Amino acid sequence: MRRLPCLISILIVAIPGIAQNQSGSDVVPYKNRSLPVEQRVQDLLGRMTLQEKVAMLSGANWMQTVSNKRLGIPSIKMADGPLGIRSWAGPSSETKMEIGETQVLTTAFPAGVAMGATWDTDLLQSEGQAIGQEVKALGRDMILGPTVNINRTPLWGRNFEGYGEDPYLNARLAVAYIKGVQSEGVIATVKHFAANNQEFERHRINAKVDERALHEIYFPAFKAAVEEAGVWSVMSAYNKVNGVYCAENSALLKDVLQKQWGFKGFVVSDWGSTYSTVDTVNAGMDLEMPGGEPMKAWLNKPDTQASGNGGGWLVSDKVLPEIESGKISTATIDDNVGRMLRVMYISGQFDKPHPPTGEIDTPAQRTVARKAATESIVLLKNAGDLLPLNASKIHSLVVIGPNAAVARTGGGGSSLVKPKYSITPLKGIQDRAGERVQVSFALGAAMEGEDPSKETRDAREQLRNEAANAAAKADVAIIVVGRSPALESEGFDIKSLDLPAGQDDLIEAVAKANRHTVVVINAGGPVVMTKWIAQVPAILDMWYDGQEGGNAIADILFGDTNPSGKLPVSFVKEWKDSPTHGHYPGQNLQVDYAEGIYVGYRYFDKQKIEPLFPFGYGLSYTKFDYSDLKISPSEVSPGKPVEVSLQVRNSGSRSGAEVVEVYVHDGHPGLDRPVEELKGFRRVDLAPGEMEVVHFTLDRSAMAFYSTAKKDWVTEPGQFEVLVGSSSRDIRLKGSFILNGEPGGSGGTSATLLSPEVTRPFLLSLHRSDP
Ligand code: BGC
Repeated sequence: MRRLPCLISILIVAIPGIAQNQSGSDVVPYKNRSLPVEQRVQDLLGRMTLQEKVAMLSGANWMQTVSNKRLGIPSIKMADGPLGIRSWAGPSSETKMEIGETQVLTTAFPAGVAMGATWDTDLLQSEGQAIGQEVKALGRDMILGPTVNINRTPLWGRNFEGYGEDPYLNARLAVAYIKGVQSEGVIATVKHFAANNQEFERHRINAKVDERALHEIYFPAFKAAVEEAGVWSVMSAYNKVNGVYCAENSALLKDVLQKQWGFKGFVVSDWGSTYSTVDTVNAGMDLEMPGGEPMKAWLNKPDTQASGNGGGWLVSDKVLPEIESGKISTATIDDNVGRMLRVMYISGQFDKPHPPTGEIDTPAQRTVARKAATESIVLLKNAGDLLPLNASKIHSLVVIGPNAAVARTGGGGSSLVKPKYSITPLKGIQDRAGERVQVSFALGAAMEGEDPSKETRDAREQLRNEAANAAAKADVAIIVVGRSPALESEGFDIKSLDLPAGQDDLIEAVAKANRHTVVVINAGGPVVMTKWIAQVPAILDMWYDGQEGGNAIADILFGDTNPSGKLPVSFVKEWKDSPTHGHYPGQNLQVDYAEGIYVGYRYFDKQKIEPLFPFGYGLSYTKFDYSDLKISPSEVSPGKPVEVSLQVRNSGSRSGAEVVEVYVHDGHPGLDRPVEELKGFRRVDLAPGEMEVVHFTLDRSAMAFYSTAKKDWVTEPGQFEVLVGSSSRDIRLKGSFILNGEPGGSGGTSATLLSPEVTRPFLLSLHRSDP
């Protein structure tokens, strides 16, 4: 609030005509803040020429929309995400120019998959809010995140950005993130709609996905983003879905997004994903990005075209003739432009643009990054209770590995954040261990591609031997292995699930030299551990854990915080066990999602394949007991909820958090339903001996499946099992309820499609806080 006078003076200088015309009867309706948004949108549309409207359909440059000085329409200024705000460099230099030559250093939050491992919706909301604050502080209006594409294959280069393999977890976390961002009056962009689940040929690949899998697996986070979080923007994906590019896919953008879910915000293309004018505009693509001169220069580069990017289709020269010819109607243009205007009004941007004045990477924002990093770490193995380490008993520690003395905060590509500082695992461990413990470092193996001189056979052997010798002399050896943003990134998929160059051999050698060996995985997803898992007593997964990763891993290693992360993705023993083995990366530019709805644990359950570590898995230093499962009522009418409660008790000797997971199985014979599906989860913090009753509500969506015959979500009467556990394969309590049929009905109950009227009030009611 203290900055308000300053904001107003900036407004008066920057946008003449706006400040003196905020409300009152002499003010033109579109500038009158006291009028309803829709009235202002329609009034403004009525004052715009066709040329002015069409000019807004493609960007002004790399990261901004076209403004309109005559009418005082601001430009929407974007920032890339979602793991914090991307450092602007290279082709984003347009945005960089605006804030002078200052480098953009922002808070690096943990990767999406790490946030997924926290199962903490409050935390995701805090992260979203912190990111929203930083976006505003930089004078931007929109963040290009969250990424909610499902981790279909463990080889996807962007697995680290997404929240995992389960649509329910994904949806809950996405909703929280978006609410956090938008509570700051910043536009969130849920991306990439839809079925963008691999980087291989991402510009040309056709994802052949059946309708049920789309609705049950790939859509839920987008649907929840629209219906529950009232997201203001959706980014379409590069790929084709069932034969049609996402940017011109009216089945996706018009039928599902607009008609079924009632989306009232605007769709933005992914950068360079448009291939036509008429089909794209008519499909409901509101904004083509990038635009202007940067777009032209970029498209002129041979590499841009060669990799399959498309663009420059929604520029005035192309759109206006199609309106003239009658292939695009002016009503369509009004709808597309109206969506952008609506969001500018609802987000508050029209009335109060964000001045680039705020602070970035505040102590409060760093605290969110640290909490998230710590909560995300998953304890995968802890034989003989090697962990937590007791700093008062240890005299020497050696920290080894290509990821030990470097902070790998995120994966590569458009999400990569450059933080003001970052803590390496080595530094975090040194700081925590204190003066008394001797902490040494050995590289052990070079990260693939970083220093070829260290990758020769002899060099590798030498590095490995040095590390093993150091391990033999230390009380404990901690090896930090994994990948790097150069190996795990947007733009290409991961070569192999095996750890890169020489890291497996390094672990074996160190484990042989010191039986107190802890392996820490620092990567965006699963790695194969077959070669060494039996020889290593303790394994932690720290993902890409943002700028505070080193402190977080020290918190967990020394037991300052009890590990509470749970896997948001299943870990396979071997690549051949993956549901996508044989159905990835496709042939002749088509990838067949032949596994249908059986993605992740749904597949392992159905095929009776033992994963290395199952979905939802994560150990603790304490022990949690589950009891007293209550399910009420035992028979429920269609559409009515079922209440589930149970007791969780910390029966160990340390404080800690447990994530309680609720799965449902539809036991109706003859229906093709997964063995279990996540339908609820909750983190509970418990002191030793403390008990808490945890409540869940299973509503209709926990029982329904998508019927392709009815083109709708339906439920079938019958028995539903409720499975409560600590992971998808550690079910502690079981119960059931009966879903009754409709009185006099044939059984199936049709879902009510949410109409735009249902979602609009929520969309409109989201407030931004005053700057
Ligand atoms: C990515 C998007 C990103 C955009 C803008 C694209 O290559 O797929 O996620 O937001 O670039 O940088």
